[in-house]
Amino acid sequence: MEREVPVSCIDAYEVPRYGKMVLVQPGGVLLPAGYKKFAKPIYNFKYRSDDICLFTYPKSGTTWTAEIVWAMTHINEMQRALTENLNHRYFFIDNDFFHDLAEEEYMEKLKAKCPDAKQEDGPILQLTALEKGRRFIWSHLSFDLQNPDVLDKCKVVYVIRHPKDNMFSRYMHFNKVANASLPIIFETFLSDNTPYGNYWHHVSEAWKRRDHPNLHIMFYEDMKADIMAELKRLNEFLGTSLTEEQLKKVAEHTSFNNMKANPSMVLDIAGFKGSFFYKGQVGSSKGQLPPELDARMDAWIKENAAKVDPAFKYAS
Ligand code: A3P
Repeated sequence: MEREVPVSCIDAYEVPRYGKMVLVQPGGVLLPAGYKKFAKPIYNFKYRSDDICLFTYPKSGTTWTAEIVWAMTHINEMQRALTENLNHRYFFIDNDFFHDLAEEEYMEKLKAKCPDAKQEDGPILQLTALEKGRRFIWSHLSFDLQNPDVLDKCKVVYVIRHPKDNMFSRYMHFNKVANASLPIIFETFLSDNTPYGNYWHHVSEAWKRRDHPNLHIMFYEDMKADIMAELKRLNEFLGTSLTEEQLKKVAEHTSFNNMKANPSMVLDIAGFKGSFFYKGQVGSSKGQLPPELDARMDAWIKENAAKVDPAFKYAS
């Protein structure tokens, strides 16, 4: 029997391009109103034991980690990444309500497999369900909005990035896409009413599951500090048994410069076609915030990180 999603969706305001929004509580998750229809199918989505999922709060290093996981599991065909966009190698299950990617293209693919399929039932969710091979699934929804059994079914990688850099990366993104100003991105990031919800809610939903053997949490800062060490941990987790040489190839293939130069990494979303690679650095937000906002954010981080866990990476 299908389970009910234990959240409430409150009708919110209209946002250009995305139209009507809903506010999902708890979590302060602002999403396109279409989420109401897909909340239950996503919550009840049937995962398989060989699926690999990547769940992240946006701008945490999703694309980087997605490419790493894919390269590690396709070590002899990494070249495919130069021509095949990541969105064709992963299923972005949020797309059925976010409509960021080329829906028509996915609908055509779906019709070829299943002529009676309907667009309103969500092309990506249907394509994901129909896929016979190993599935790579990516979502920005927090764990409380995912199937509660997902970790008992398959492996999930979750990436966390320092909130200040995360917020600044979000600003760079929305500034390109929608001319958003830094103060508005700052205020919404610190509020409880923001796309994909409150940062701390998202992170704590993953953190409280951290002891589950099928969950692998990575920090963007650790990846930047020592990518080989992180690839080795991932190698263990994924069971990919790659050699040191092969891991070095993965590190090279997924370096910031190589990924930025990869033509298949150009994204065509939200009315914007281009690159979302800004600096790809730890501390990229340094010196970018007025002192008053910087101090407010420091206090916000200190208070909330300690609530997640006094020993949490950003708590001190
Ligand atoms: P910046 O905006 O700080 O440059 P996401 O993929 O979750 O949207 O995250 C985007 C951030 O990850 C961007 O940060 C982007 O530059 C960074 N990123 C992407 N690929 C990277 C890589 N290979 N190495 C380091 N950072 C990377």
